[in-house]
Amino acid sequence: MGIVTVGESFFYRNPDQFRFLAHEFLPALYERKREVGCRLIRIWSAGCSTGEEAYSLAHMVRFVQTHFPEMNIEILACDINRRNLGFAEKGLYRKRSMRGQATEMQNELKVPLGRNLENGAFQVVEELKSQVTFQYQNLRQLENLKSHQGSDIIFCRNVLIYFEDAFRQQLVQTFCDLLNPGGMLFLGETESISGLDGLRLVPCRGAFGYLKG
Ligand SMILES: C[S@@+](CC[C@H](N)C(=O)[O-])C[C@H]1O[C@@H](n2cnc3c(N)ncnc32)[C@H](O)[C@@H]1O
Repeated sequence: MGIVTVGESFFYRNPDQFRFLAHEFLPALYERKREVGCRLIRIWSAGCSTGEEAYSLAHMVRFVQTHFPEMNIEILACDINRRNLGFAEKGLYRKRSMRGQATEMQNELKVPLGRNLENGAFQVVEELKSQVTFQYQNLRQLENLKSHQGSDIIFCRNVLIYFEDAFRQQLVQTFCDLLNPGGMLFLGETESISGLDGLRLVPCRGAFGYLKG
């Protein structure tokens, strides 16, 4: 039997997590990496649904790269739902996906995210599409997540709801193991975890995230 999942998402959901990354976390992380001769930053959107989260990340990254052009960022976005991934790859959205702060963030960061089409749809710009790699992945198969070892930022927002308590703990422990020291995990606005060694809750402007180490 196939696994049925729904994938409600929109651009710039919980925008303060992105603002924190753009203005504070990424510039500081880049400086730390540069000092040790590394320019690659790895971001993973785990449970990316139709791609709005990954493109919001790519958009925010473009803004940061206007200040740090040598910063090399890899964005990998995974989901178990192949239909969602198909949508994501097209980068073509209905108005519903714009109900967050997509317009505000385009004005704020002064980087184009996409353009409105005559039929009311929204098309993500090509340069952001080429920044993201979409991939099928089942998060339940923990042993297959090893390729994400060395991630700097993991987004797993509004996905834990699909799992029972014991597996949630295991998955978040795995995320912690896969993160580089000083890396961060971001969950959904209404999700939280506790009792995990190695991850510390930290404020991110009006939101929060989990810092490793
Ligand atoms: C509500 S969406 C969240 C999308 C996005 N992260 C956000 O916050 O806007 C949840 C996504 O998790 C995916 N998902 C559920 N179980 C999964 C699993 N075992 N492995 C990978 N993805 C899964 C669903 O297919 C769905 O697209």
